[in-house]
Amino acid sequence: MAQTILFVCLGNICRSPSAEGVLRAMASERGKALEIDSAGTGDWHLGEPPYGPMQRAAQARGYDLSPLRARQVSVEDFARFDLILAMDESNMANLKAMRPADARAELRLFTDYAPQTRATEVPDPYYTRDFDGALDLIEIAARGLLDQLGE
Ligand code: 4NP
Repeated sequence: MAQTILFVCLGNICRSPSAEGVLRAMASERGKALEIDSAGTGDWHLGEPPYGPMQRAAQARGYDLSPLRARQVSVEDFARFDLILAMDESNMANLKAMRPADARAELRLFTDYAPQTRATEVPDPYYTRDFDGALDLIEIAARGLLDQLGE
């Protein structure tokens, strides 16, 4: 059973910090102890807090993303985490290219946990500007993930 989970997107300022905040809140509600982190494949926003409009949309639902700071995913993450969840196919391709042969982490798409939505990726709200749509999908996938971890 996975107990350490890393969310990965491109910039680590929209989707993956939102997933981190949502899963933290839901795991805490269910009394489930998980180590949760997020990172980006890119390095443009290192050390920055989540994007303002994303933070505000998350805050409106009760998720405080303000303490989070962007970092870049590293090869060491494949030894540190049980599960690495990519937000889209491009993130997945980047992660597969850097995955060491002896990786501990299982690598999956986050939307695998939201099959009822038929979504195959979490669209990037930095470009779509649909912050609430991203949060809707992230909440559904986070619930699906917790249900599976609880089995
Ligand atoms: P994220 O969105 O991958 O969901 O954090 C992005 C934010 C910023 C950029 C790309 C994606 N950017 O290129 O600056």
